[in-house]
Amino acid sequence: MSESNVLLVFGTRPEAIKMCPLVLELKKRGRMKATVCVTGQHREMLRQVLRTFCVLPDYDLQIMRPGQDLYDVTSRVLLGMREVLRAERPDAVLVHGDTSTAFAASLAAFYDHIPIGHVEAGLRTYDLSSPYPEEYNRQAIGLCARWHFAPTQAAREHLLREGKDPSHIYVTGNTGIDALQTTVRADYTHPELDWARGSRLLVITAHRRENLGQPMRAMFRALRRIVEDIPDVKAVYPIHLNPEVRRIADEELSGCASIHLIDPLPVEDFHNFLSRSYLILTDSGGIQEEAPALGKPVLVMRDTTERPEGVQAGTLKLTGTGEEAIYAACRTLLDDPQAYRRMAQAQNPYGDGTASRQIADILEGALAHGQ
Ligand code: UD1
Ligand code: UDP
Repeated sequence: MSESNVLLVFGTRPEAIKMCPLVLELKKRGRMKATVCVTGQHREMLRQVLRTFCVLPDYDLQIMRPGQDLYDVTSRVLLGMREVLRAERPDAVLVHGDTSTAFAASLAAFYDHIPIGHVEAGLRTYDLSSPYPEEYNRQAIGLCARWHFAPTQAAREHLLREGKDPSHIYVTGNTGIDALQTTVRADYTHPELDWARGSRLLVITAHRRENLGQPMRAMFRALRRIVEDIPDVKAVYPIHLNPEVRRIADEELSGCASIHLIDPLPVEDFHNFLSRSYLILTDSGGIQEEAPALGKPVLVMRDTTERPEGVQAGTLKLTGTGEEAIYAACRTLLDDPQAYRRMAQAQNPYGDGTASRQIADILEGALAHGQ
C-alpha cells in the first residue's frame, strides 16, 4: 500500500507558527508524506516563521498584494489550490484556524472531495462581525471538516452543540504551545530590551481588520497617554506590515520617546519579549494563548474573544476599543500591585505542548483505517 499524503496549507504568520510544529512532527515520523503548500497571504512575516522552523514549502502560491482585500485573498487561494490539489491528489488537507487562506483552502478541498482536518477547531464568538471575517471563516471550515482538532474542552462543546460527530472531535491542546516551548530562553538579549531595562516594559500589537480606523486610533491614543503619564514605563510595538496599520501607528505614536515602533520580530524574539514584558496590550488571537502560559497579564483591546479560557484563568481582560477604557484598565494594572499580581499567574489552558504529536497519531490511525 502506498503511503498517505497529507497536504498542510497555511499562509499567514499565526498559522505558520502553529502549523510548523505539526509539519516537523509528521516529517520526523516519516510514516506519511507531509506536503506543505503556503499561499503566501503574508510574505515577509510568513518567511520569518518558515526560517525559524526550517520548513521549506513544496508549493508557494505567492498571492500577497499590498492592500489586498478579502476578495483578492479568497479568490487567489481558491484558484491556486485547484492546481495544487490536482497535482498532489492528497489523502487529507489540513488547515488551521480562521484566516481567509484556511477558509478558501478548505473550500477547495471540499470541492475536490478531499477530507479536511481543522487544526484549532471550535473557537467561537458567535458574532459574525467580531472578529471579522474570522468568525465566519472558522464556522465555514467547521461545516466541511472531517476531523476537528479542538484545543480545549470548551471548543469541543461548541462543536458538539453544532451537531458535529463526537467521534471526530479531538481535544489536543493548541499547537502554539508546542511552538512556545522551543523559543523562550533565560539568556536571551536584544538591544530593545537593553533600552527598556529599568522600566516596566509594555509589549503592544494590533492589526485586526475591524479595528482599522477609529478604534485603532483610540487604542494608540490611550497607550500614548499611558507612557507619557507614567515615567517608569516603556513600550515596544513591533508593527504589523499592513500599510494601513503602519500609517495609523505612525500618525498617532511617532515622536513619542517612550514607545519604540519596530518591524515585526521573528517569533523566537517575540516570545522572549513577551516573557520579559510587564504587561501586554493586543488585539491578536495567538498572543492570548501564549501570554497565560507565560504568566503575563494581557489587556485584550477587542469587544469579544474566542479565547475565554484565558479570561477565566484570570490572565486576560477584555477592555473593548475605547480610549478611556483602555487607559483606565492599563492604569489599574500599573498603579495597583495587587490587581497586577492577581492577573500575573502562569496558567496554561491550552495543553501540555504535545498537540502536534496527538494530531499526528490521530491522523495516522484515521488514514490507515479509512476513517
Ligand atoms: C490576516 C488574517 C487574520 C490574522 C492576521 C495575522 C484574514 C482575513 N485575516 O489579517 O485572521 O489574524 O492575518 O497577522 O485572513 N503585509 C505585508 N507583508 C506581510 C504580511 C502582510 O506587506 O508579510 C501587508 C500587505 O499589504 C497585505 C496586508 O498586510 O495586503 C494585510 O494582510 P492580510 O493577510 O490581508 O490581512 P491581515 O490583516 O494581516
Ligand atoms: N508574533 C511574532 N512577531 C511579532 C508579533 C507577533 O512572531 O512581531 C507572533 C506571536 O507570538 C503570535 C503570532 O505572531 O504567535 C500572532 O500573530 P498575529 O497577531 O499576526 O495574528 P493572530 O494571532 O491575531 O491571528
